[in-house]
Amino acid sequence: LARGAAGPDLAGRHVVISAGGTREPLDPVRFLGNRSSGKQGYALARTAAARGARVTLVAANTALPDPAGVDVVRVGTALQLREAVLKAAGDADAVVMAAAVADFRPAVYADGKIKKKDGQEPAPVNLVRNPDILAEISAERAREGQIVVGFAAETDDVLANGRTKLARKGCDLLVVNEVGETKTFGSEENEAVILASDGTETPVAHGPKEALADAIWDRVAARLARRTA
Ligand code: CTP
Ligand code: CA
Repeated sequence: LARGAAGPDLAGRHVVISAGGTREPLDPVRFLGNRSSGKQGYALARTAAARGARVTLVAANTALPDPAGVDVVRVGTALQLREAVLKAAGDADAVVMAAAVADFRPAVYADGKIKKKDGQEPAPVNLVRNPDILAEISAERAREGQIVVGFAAETDDVLANGRTKLARKGCDLLVVNEVGETKTFGSEENEAVILASDGTETPVAHGPKEALADAIWDRVAARLARRTA
């Protein structure tokens, strides 16, 4: 399989990658967020560019340098990420949703900073659902034969949850990894199983996030080659 310096097997392809974690604001100074660093998404962007792809990276709240030769679109919230991904996906050969998208956002946004008041209990925070971007792009496929890849971060019953999630989301590939406060998030390394809609499962041994990224692109490139064959 051609990978990295070995061959530009993604030349002429446009790939869209979301990375990082969305932040859902409560007021001008607070938000609900998550522990995603964006490193896996950036590794996907770097490796895709190295394999010859035109890359759009939709980055949510990351503190990482822009990868060379990659189009970076910065977003904050899940709704902004959805808009940017849908726009870029219009002519994309593959879309990889590596971002940690908040499932919920505060139902109301306070225009001014929320203040505490003496002798008063805090008001509860009501949440509403965010749209499921991965399910939406999988169902609608902006282009025929577009390959859609999701990620699943699980803490328990990792594989069983992953298989159910792959079917529910309707994507082609689902990259499943086990997470915890000290596992995966912010780390330079990752370990995962790539589940495919055709039932195949590919374990990827613990290693740099680039190695997992290349294993994902191997599978995407093979599917794209089959599509145009
Ligand atoms: N995702 C998305 N839009 C959302 C939530 C998640 O596109 N509103 C994408 C993520 O980018 C990821 C995949 O869906 O690629 C799986 O995310 P995950 O949080 O594991 O799945 P959920 O369906 O949100 O299930 P859970 O209840 O386990 O969080
Ligand atoms: Ca979720």
